[in-house]
Amino acid sequence: MRNIIVVSVVIGLAVAAYFWSSSEKGAQMEAAGAAMVDVLVPELEGLAREGRGAYETFCAACHGINAAGQLGVAPPLIHKIYEPSHHGDMAFVLAARRGVQSHHWPFGDMPPVADISDEELGQIITYVRTVQRANGIN
Ligand code: HEC
Repeated sequence: MRNIIVVSVVIGLAVAAYFWSSSEKGAQMEAAGAAMVDVLVPELEGLAREGRGAYETFCAACHGINAAGQLGVAPPLIHKIYEPSHHGDMAFVLAARRGVQSHHWPFGDMPPVADISDEELGQIITYVRTVQRANGIN
């Protein structure tokens, strides 16, 4: 009788541990791809508005909607690390032209972006800087 109680307690704990660990995994899977920062989106005009379109074509698949990043994929560009004094406009041009070796984040390398024109890159930089400023990143 005592053995039966011990065995059923052990089984009960194992079942509980199984459900606990699978719900943890579920939570982690949901988090992958999630936005990494809250981005306040300003009114966009002219170049910045065109830049949003180009950004969505060339960058959003990794850097996420509104450049808010995607957990496990790519960092937010609306982030203090990418403020103009730390990553000037040339860093954006080089990132797109040559790709980036992973160094700030654990998400792997950024490959060079194919088929993007200088004009589109300029628009994207204007867009990112406009959204950065609206979020207090100067
Ligand atoms: C295939 C995914 C992917 C695409 C597409 C992509 N990026 Fe990235 N990018 C990354 C990752 C990952 C990093 C982070 C590298 C690291 O760990 O520092 C990064 C980093 C950067 C950086 C930081 C460069 C540096 O010097 O540290 C800039 C700027 C950047 N990306 C801009 C862009 C722009 C602009 C586009 C679109 C034209 C773009 N990225 C498209 C994945 C991507």
